[in-house]
Amino acid sequence: MKTNAILLAAGHGLRMNSDLPKVLHPVAGKPMLWHTLQAVAEVTTEKPVVIIGHQADTIRNYIGEQAHCILQEQQLGTGHAVQQARNFLEGKTDLVLVTYADMPLLSPETLMELVQTQMDNVGPISLLTIISDDPRGFGRILRKDDGSVQAIVEETVATSDQLQIKELNVGAYCFNANWLWKALDEVKASPKGEFFLTDTISVAVQNGLNVKPVILSDLAEAIGVNTRIHLSEAESAMQERINHMHMLAGVTLIDPDTAFIDSGIIIGRDTVIWPDTYLRGNTEVGRNSEIGPGTIIENSIIGDRCKVLYSVLESSILEDDVDMGPFAHLRKGTHLGRGVHIGNFGEIKDSSLGAGSKMGHFSYIGNAKIGSNVNIGAGTITCNYDGDRADQFVPELATSWTV
Ligand code: UD1
Ligand code: CA
Repeated sequence: MKTNAILLAAGHGLRMNSDLPKVLHPVAGKPMLWHTLQAVAEVTTEKPVVIIGHQADTIRNYIGEQAHCILQEQQLGTGHAVQQARNFLEGKTDLVLVTYADMPLLSPETLMELVQTQMDNVGPISLLTIISDDPRGFGRILRKDDGSVQAIVEETVATSDQLQIKELNVGAYCFNANWLWKALDEVKASPKGEFFLTDTISVAVQNGLNVKPVILSDLAEAIGVNTRIHLSEAESAMQERINHMHMLAGVTLIDPDTAFIDSGIIIGRDTVIWPDTYLRGNTEVGRNSEIGPGTIIENSIIGDRCKVLYSVLESSILEDDVDMGPFAHLRKGTHLGRGVHIGNFGEIKDSSLGAGSKMGHFSYIGNAKIGSNVNIGAGTITCNYDGDRADQFVPELATSWTV
């Protein structure tokens, strides 16, 4: 069955108070939109569609080839946003999975359950709901006396009785595609002139068609980000998910609350991550290594059995059995061969040190190629800075001296 996802990302995100489009705010080092794109890719058969509007060019540039972008020129509501995909998708797909790009924690497993529920549904809609004491501004699910779903009422238009309802609309739906396009035509504008996607539920019910709810039990998955407070909740929940995944795969986190590991980082078995450690970007750590405490590693590759203590590493490579720190700084382009030792207060940039070389104390190595088993004396400096042509590497100007 052909299943296509539509992600909504056209809104202003005004409540974020930000120059950056809301869906590009990072959670665990990757934009929220990246997380939603990843999740839908696992459960759909076609390239997703992203509806863009506010700061469209910035979002389009980020998306590149990952999805089809469709412009919603005026943000007239979530129903209107989905309608923008009609010309592009009509007749091309059986099911349409719709979700919002500000829901970074929705898991592929949950979305799969939603899609499968709709595959078995004779009616046109399945949707995710959650029971929670914290309404978070979400739409409320109205049920009939027989327990079936009757409608979704948005918080802005709900009566005080309806506001007490604890079952909420998470914001993920799977529709029968042919039905959806017609139903959107029947949705009426709200008092503020918006067309709510959520009103398609009452369209189905009024036509005697079945709406199937899937009740989500993990509250964290339903975190929708409208403000920076929600963003911090999403960040903690995502960190917890990532840390659990690594621990279950055999990585020891001495203090998971202070291990900050971006999405997509690879860590080998029996590696230990000490407190206050950040693993960022495209970083890979091998097996049996000890990282931290007090360490930041960005876009770097660390081998097996390495030790990195109180140090900062950017775009560097450490082969196996390297030990470094405390207080070392590897800047971009550093490559340390097998068994290299870097002691305290060393800085290296755009340089390689061959296997077994040692740089024990207080040195700066810039733009140098150091062989194997070299012992670099305390206070050694190599650099290519002539005070004038600092932007280019001029090998003949490279100097080295030891104090
Ligand atoms: C929406 C739901 C609400 C649900 C909640 C869950 C509607 C009407 N309401 O409310 O029932 O509980 O999400 O998170 O759907 N967008 C567009 N174009 C528009 C308007 C919005 O693309 O014209 C996008 C936004 O960029 C955002 C998403 O749709 O990614 C949701 O919009 P938002 O304003 O955040 O809706 P909520 O108030 O959170
Ligand atoms: Ca939202």
